[in-house]
Amino acid sequence: METRAKWGTKLGFILAASGSAVGLGNIWKFPYITGHYGGGAFVLVYLACILIVGLPIMIAELMIGHKSQKSPIGGFKALHKSKFWVIAGVIGVVAAFLILSFYSIVAGWSMAYILKAFAGFKGSSEEIVAQFKNLKEDPFLSIMWHTIFMGLSIGIVIKGIQKGIEKWSKILMPGLVLILLGLSIYGIFFTSGGIKAIEFLFKPDFSKLSSEGVLSALGHAFFTLSLGMGAMITYGSYLKKDINIPKAAITISILDTIIALFAGIAIFSIVFEYGGEVASGPGLIFETLPVLFKEIGQFVSVPFFLLLTFAALTSAISLLEVVVSYFIDEKKWSRVKATLLIGGLIYIIGILSAVDEWKLSFMGKDQSFFDIFDFITTNYMLPVAGLLTSIFVAWIINEKIRKEEFDVSNKSKFYLPWKYIIRYITPIAVMIIILHGFGLI
Ligand code: PFF
Repeated sequence: METRAKWGTKLGFILAASGSAVGLGNIWKFPYITGHYGGGAFVLVYLACILIVGLPIMIAELMIGHKSQKSPIGGFKALHKSKFWVIAGVIGVVAAFLILSFYSIVAGWSMAYILKAFAGFKGSSEEIVAQFKNLKEDPFLSIMWHTIFMGLSIGIVIKGIQKGIEKWSKILMPGLVLILLGLSIYGIFFTSGGIKAIEFLFKPDFSKLSSEGVLSALGHAFFTLSLGMGAMITYGSYLKKDINIPKAAITISILDTIIALFAGIAIFSIVFEYGGEVASGPGLIFETLPVLFKEIGQFVSVPFFLLLTFAALTSAISLLEVVVSYFIDEKKWSRVKATLLIGGLIYIIGILSAVDEWKLSFMGKDQSFFDIFDFITTNYMLPVAGLLTSIFVAWIINEKIRKEEFDVSNKSKFYLPWKYIIRYITPIAVMIIILHGFGLI
């Protein structure tokens, strides 16, 4: 029997898993939702959500992968005889498939903007803002960048765990950290907006926080840590025996959080220095920043879009690996066949999201495939898979397995606190996200 692929080193695993967590969610989405929901108070709630929902579920997912040595669907099958729990794995694999199909479109825009940044942003503010609309609404361009980005992701995953995912995470993640460090230093020390940005992110003003903001923080904690779609189960399944799972999960969550906060500092210091609009939604990165980059120049704009692309690529490969590993484990396909066929299929479905004009009537209005896939996965699929995963690990699997997977030496003082949080607090918090997603609260 073939032995399962393994990470070469613990550092390689930490970089790959943090690479999965740190993505468009950190650099693109976190700053604009923080802006939208009022800054510091939102950040505080978000940090609490990482602690009581994100971290406990990440530990649970890594445990399932590490114990079963299987991809998500096989993982649930291996740890309990009831078929019911496999649903969580199935939802995860389907969600990973759908998410990658539209994630690749935004990643493609980000690559397109590396070139635009190189050339320099020119013209009036309106003209610079219009460039984004032109790109988004041009099916040929969007599909071309989607093709290049999916090609890169497939090229990495086809090489396997050590020679593909781990090798590239070891290159891209340090690159990402260096660029972000440079941009943050620029923001804090070389713009007049640095202090204001730090105040905006860290000085809580609870009068600006809405219940909508709290729910958004909960949902984002899921997405940013790559939970609910089997990514951490899959990456956990390539771990060797000697690993301290809680320690690894804490390291990954801290890295993800710090990187999101630094991205916030870098972006808001530029926004405040040049008087841009804070709560500008998804257009913050592709519309507001380029207008400001016109004043600042290429030495900031080019690294910025490189950063965004690196972040997107290390996340995309984890999404692809979730689906590919299912076909390798359960259908016994070769890695080459699985990566080419599945990557190709995701690429084709992605074309639906690349064409802005193609709309479908969904929940009473005409919406693009991009918006529909995003809505269904983020609001329904991830939280439901996360809820099932937390119940499975907290209540269903054997106590001996749970304890051993948490800490082989059986001495950790964090076991009981974790167990109580994931038994009682995490599922209730996730239930609230789900009910909100269904419009029930
Ligand atoms: N965590 C990624 C981000 O913040 O952009 C998104 C993501 C990647 C979600 C991989 C899920 C996943 F499996």
